[in-house]
Amino acid sequence: MESACPHLGADLSHADIEEFDTGAVAVCPWHRYDFDLRTGKSETGLRACTYAVEVRRDKDGVDKVYMEAPEEGSGWRIVELRPVSEEFADPPPLASDPVPARGENTKPTPQQDDEPVVPIENPPTTLMQWAVLILNTPNPRLKVERTKHAVHLFRTGKLKSIGNKSSNAPRPPDVPSRDDAYSRNVVDPSKVKNRRNRASMLHALANIEQWAIDLAWDIMARFGPMEHDLPPAFFADFTKMALDESKHFTLLTSRLSALSPSTPYGSMPVHAGLWESATVTSLSLLSRLAIIHLVHEARGLDVNPATIEKFRKAGDTETVKVMEIIHADEVTHVTAGHRWFTWACAQEELNAKNKGEEKVVDPIKRFREEVKKGWTGDIKGPFNVEAREMAGLTPQFYEGLRGELGLGEKNYPASASIAASHPKNHEEGTKEEDVTGLTSGVASVTLQYE
Ligand code: FES
Repeated sequence: MESACPHLGADLSHADIEEFDTGAVAVCPWHRYDFDLRTGKSETGLRACTYAVEVRRDKDGVDKVYMEAPEEGSGWRIVELRPVSEEFADPPPLASDPVPARGENTKPTPQQDDEPVVPIENPPTTLMQWAVLILNTPNPRLKVERTKHAVHLFRTGKLKSIGNKSSNAPRPPDVPSRDDAYSRNVVDPSKVKNRRNRASMLHALANIEQWAIDLAWDIMARFGPMEHDLPPAFFADFTKMALDESKHFTLLTSRLSALSPSTPYGSMPVHAGLWESATVTSLSLLSRLAIIHLVHEARGLDVNPATIEKFRKAGDTETVKVMEIIHADEVTHVTAGHRWFTWACAQEELNAKNKGEEKVVDPIKRFREEVKKGWTGDIKGPFNVEAREMAGLTPQFYEGLRGELGLGEKNYPASASIAASHPKNHEEGTKEEDVTGLTSGVASVTLQYE
């Protein structure tokens, strides 16, 4: 059965399956309409798309899944069939004493672990309110817990609404909150030296995941109220992304804690380079999807296999498992970026048509235009062509592409100064390797492994 409910688009992959006399039905988590799993029919008269699926054992005793082909369309293929890991690690201890920034002697802010997941005063009732609350939650552990809670409420239909069409939808912050002590630890990525061991790599990757949780909430909170036509499936995709990034954060910080108990998350300097791209793209959904999800996240697909290999060579099988989960999830994130980028292009065409204009918006051409405006320098390979293609990104999107965002032109709000890096500071031609994937033409952290 297709996962979008034909009523209002809830994600049916979270439906309850119930046995009736007539057979099994999927009960939609939002309004409890039921859909026969075989025919897709509901008593309400709606009908979900279904495809016959059968498991057959072949002559070698291997179980194979057969799926009926969709009637319409051609050239389709199954990209991947895999179990999804929803395993979270127990939130490990965070540093209670983050490293003060160079030259500073200030006492760090203590972790506020006693703050409840659901605020006692004015608890959020819409997805937009949860998104902004989470963006304004500095404690990463609480951010993860609130993400898990909010996504559960959304999936099970327990929120009043998405809330993006309301004139009272709250505004997201320009830069998500960070505890003071962590903000003081933000350094210019090019000045990050000697980050050569596995603990440093895990710390850097966990930092990126913390920003990635915020990016998933920010795209919903920022563009939901701007683009009223966004369907519920958009919010289903990006809440999944927020939950995945939270899962990654807990898995990485847990590995960090096991590998190096003396350097828990928050004890090393971090960078905020990723948020510079978020700020540069804060006015356009197409730009945000292109730069964050189809440039930064797609780069992750390129570098993850080499990072996994390095942990494997070090005999760290536990981190290999974590990185494999992250890599598989990130293919789905780039897929979501591609899907909504294509949707936004079609929407641009439709809006022009409604105004009586004839306009064709080719997603590949449009993507290349957005990268030129919102990125600095070459889109660098080597590319993981296979993983990119699984996500819908064919080489025509990214080959021979160079961003022309003016070096030194800081045309974004001053509040983004948390991202202390500057392109001029980035050392080109270094032999150090990028293991994070979330590098930027504006700012990047390069890490070396030994
Ligand atoms: S019954 Fe599924 S969205 Fe309403």
